[in-house]
Amino acid sequence: MSLMQLIYASTPFGFDNPTLNQILSVARRNNARDDITGALICRADLYLQLLEGPRAAVTATFHKILADDRHLDVVLIACGDIKTRMFPKWDMKDDPATSWMWTQEQVAAGAIEHTSDEDVRVVFTRLLSES
Ligand SMILES: Cc1cc2nc3c(=O)[nH]c(=O)nc-3n(C[C@H](O)[C@H](O)[C@H](O)COP(=O)(O)O)c2cc1C
Repeated sequence: MSLMQLIYASTPFGFDNPTLNQILSVARRNNARDDITGALICRADLYLQLLEGPRAAVTATFHKILADDRHLDVVLIACGDIKTRMFPKWDMKDDPATSWMWTQEQVAAGAIEHTSDEDVRVVFTRLLSES
C-alpha cells in the first residue's frame, strides 16, 4: 500500500482554544481509525499541516479539510509518495510554533506562498527534533 504525504497551509477562521481543541480531538479520533499520522502547526494567523498515510485515506481527509469553514485560503504545498512516516507516533501532533517560525508580518506578507516545499519540510523536521 502506497504511503503518501501531503502538506498544506491555510488561514484560521474563528481561531480560539475551544475551536482548536475540537479540531484536534476529532482529527485524532479519525486519524487513529484511518491510519493517518502527522502534525498541525497552529497559531492565530496560520495553520500548517502535514498529513501522512495510505493515499486514499489522506485524499479523503484532505477533501473534508478543504470543505471545513474553520479556515480559509487552503493552499497545497506538497503532495507525494513517501517511504517512511515522519510522525509515526502522532495521530496529530500539535505545535504552536511561536518562537522560530515566520513572524505574523511575514505570514501576512505571503511568506508561505514564497517558501519552497523543501523549506517547509525543514520546519516539520525541526518540530520533530524538538519534540
Ligand atoms: C486545520 C484543520 C485540520 C484538520 N485536521 C484533520 C485531520 O487531521 N483529520 C481529520 O479527520 N479531520 C481534520 N480536520 C477536521 C475536518 O475538516 C472535518 O471536520 C472532520 O474530519 C469531520 O469528521 P467526521 O467526518 O468524523 O464528522 C481538520 C480541520 C481543520 C480546520
